[in-house]
Amino acid sequence: MNAVIIFGTHYGSARDYAEKLAEQLRLECFLYKEFRPSRHYDLLLYVGSLYAGGVPGLAKTLARCAGAPPQRVLVVTVGISDPADAQNAENIANSVCRQLPAELRDKTELFHVRGRLDYPRLKPHHRLMMKLVYQQAQKTPPEKRDEETRALIATYNQTVDFVDFSALEPVIDRYRQLDTSGAFTNPAQGATIGTEGGR
Ligand SMILES: Cc1cc2nc3c(=O)[nH]c(=O)nc-3n(C[C@H](O)[C@H](O)[C@H](O)COP(=O)(O)O)c2cc1C
Repeated sequence: MNAVIIFGTHYGSARDYAEKLAEQLRLECFLYKEFRPSRHYDLLLYVGSLYAGGVPGLAKTLARCAGAPPQRVLVVTVGISDPADAQNAENIANSVCRQLPAELRDKTELFHVRGRLDYPRLKPHHRLMMKLVYQQAQKTPPEKRDEETRALIATYNQTVDFVDFSALEPVIDRYRQLDTSGAFTNPAQGATIGTEGGR
């Protein structure tokens, strides 16, 4: 199987996950800005952090592959909110779905891991964005706050690190399954973007 890892990051946690995957799967790994596809890939593994639901570089990378689209895409999102919360995972899936070309939606499987957030290191526009979102979040009554809102409030102005490489195990398992089973002719087994959410 011909595969590549691309990542989109601002502060490095998606890079750390991508490099760990590259090491484990013995694949090449590129920052999306540096990726110029010169061949067809059976599988594209995209590791991208979440910024207001957006994944930096994902849409651009897939657009760059439009001439020879991958047969399968695995997207690993890296965020601060807890993806074990089903509603949160579904919200992330819906948001990622909007960043995919329609023809790749049924070929895309989603995985979610948690990253890190270091307020003292945030660039001014990110800090301002978080301040505005935090002020808005505080107006939501506690019983009506979703996981994303709770995580935002709990981590505001702090340094938190939820990076856990063991969370990549389902991604590694899925990659190996696809690699060894001739799976490109089989239906997707992970949560595809067109279904009820990620995992
Ligand atoms: C401006 C801003 C927006 C963010 N939006 C989200 C979000 O929508 N969902 C989420 O779970 N985490 C969100 N986060 C947290 C980041 O996804 C998290 O810190 C991630 O690990 C950053 O990845 P990076 O180090 O690769 O840039 C946001 C962080 C910032 C600074």
